[in-house]
Amino acid sequence: MNAHNTPGIAKPLTLPCGATVKNRFYKSAMNEALAGRDCAPTEEHVRLYRTWAEGGAGVLVTGNVMVDRTQLGEPGNVAVEDGRDLNMLRRWAAAGTRNGAHCWMQINHPGRQSPITINQHPYAPSGGKLEGDYGRFFAEPTALTVEQIHDIVHRFATTARIAKKAGFTGVEIHAAHGYLINQFLSPEDNRRTDEYGGDIEHRARFLFEVFDAVREAVGPEFPVAVKLNSSDVPIAVKIDDRGGSFSGFDEKESIWVMKQLEKRGVDLIDISGGTLEKPLIQTNSGAVEDRRRGVYFTEFARRVKGELTVPVALTGGFRNARDMERALDEGITQMIGIARPLALVPDLPKRIIRDRWDGSVDLPWVTTGVKALDRAFGGILVISWFELQMNRIGHGKRPDPRIGGLRALCFAIGKHGPGALAPRHRKGHQ
Ligand SMILES: Cc1cc2nc3c(=O)[nH]c(=O)nc-3n(C[C@H](O)[C@H](O)[C@H](O)COP(=O)(O)O)c2cc1C
Repeated sequence: MNAHNTPGIAKPLTLPCGATVKNRFYKSAMNEALAGRDCAPTEEHVRLYRTWAEGGAGVLVTGNVMVDRTQLGEPGNVAVEDGRDLNMLRRWAAAGTRNGAHCWMQINHPGRQSPITINQHPYAPSGGKLEGDYGRFFAEPTALTVEQIHDIVHRFATTARIAKKAGFTGVEIHAAHGYLINQFLSPEDNRRTDEYGGDIEHRARFLFEVFDAVREAVGPEFPVAVKLNSSDVPIAVKIDDRGGSFSGFDEKESIWVMKQLEKRGVDLIDISGGTLEKPLIQTNSGAVEDRRRGVYFTEFARRVKGELTVPVALTGGFRNARDMERALDEGITQMIGIARPLALVPDLPKRIIRDRWDGSVDLPWVTTGVKALDRAFGGILVISWFELQMNRIGHGKRPDPRIGGLRALCFAIGKHGPGALAPRHRKGHQ
């Protein structure tokens, strides 16, 4: 608490572009999986975001919205390529900006991380089939031509322009979790020998072009955030393979990219991560895992602290007001990124700010009751379970933490077909 007894979390924050957010709650992106085959937003999006906006968060980031409807990352993604869904987008944005909340659209292209059940023709910085167990769930991608890269840059800008027109009050570019921009940044995925591959200056070129085009599309006074991995390349395996001389998209490169984005006028960096050995959402054991892990990426955020002046949102593992205040006090983050707890307690910000609630949101252990099924569907089980909770809120119901894992899997199949159970992320990314 500060001298005036206002918790840090309740204080407004003014971003470099001049926009002010009313408090430090940053609802991180969660794919709602609420769009139909037409990839259009629905009444359920409107209801869900109205509930969240009334729940008191300063910023609501939408689930990832795709720039190309033929290239989806997950079943149920919204895609925005043109003005055809402008009316529903307007209603979504209006709902998400009630109660003084900001509502920012997260914009994404999945690249090769587009499951074969929904996309037989994915694109990537370089060709080549995925090796290992996960290979059969993803079609072999085609390497993008320079012309196609320019087209995708243009698409990011178009989606951002439409988001602004519809009334969203900011955008977040998704450069993390193994999707296309992350693939360009990663030397594992990007083996190009042209101006988009090679050293980090060149691997980051695609991200910088996307950022500049988006900034140009929305103007200087509109919040543009970037979600970036602290590092993403398999660590120990590769160090061993290369005799100890690992040089991937590591923390040093990530900080360099952040500094470049700061110079280019980014308003906020959303720090995330995920490696082969440590996927972001590691298990389905809920609070047990949370207590073991604490707040994610804290050490990295400490390293970043002295290097950046642009605001940071640290996302992952925040479950109680004490940890939030500590992180803000320490100055390792300016916004508190929070995702899964808000699918269970949508008005958590209000409870903490207004009611001074000092409990902890315990995420349940999501289980089907059958060990083999839990093992087989681990990541998908958790994702489907949280999608089911968002679906409930979207239908005007309360979240229900007692729902079992089997019901979540049945829900996913019922809504999106059996393909919903294929992994949506390569191992190591979430
Ligand atoms: C159901 C679900 C969907 C998600 N979808 C996205 C997404 O669209 N974009 C994104 O950047 N992160 C996504 N994430 C990751 C979250 O934004 C967040 O980084 C992660 O859940 C850790 O934060 P938490 O511990 O507060 O949940 C998703 C997570 C879940 C559980």
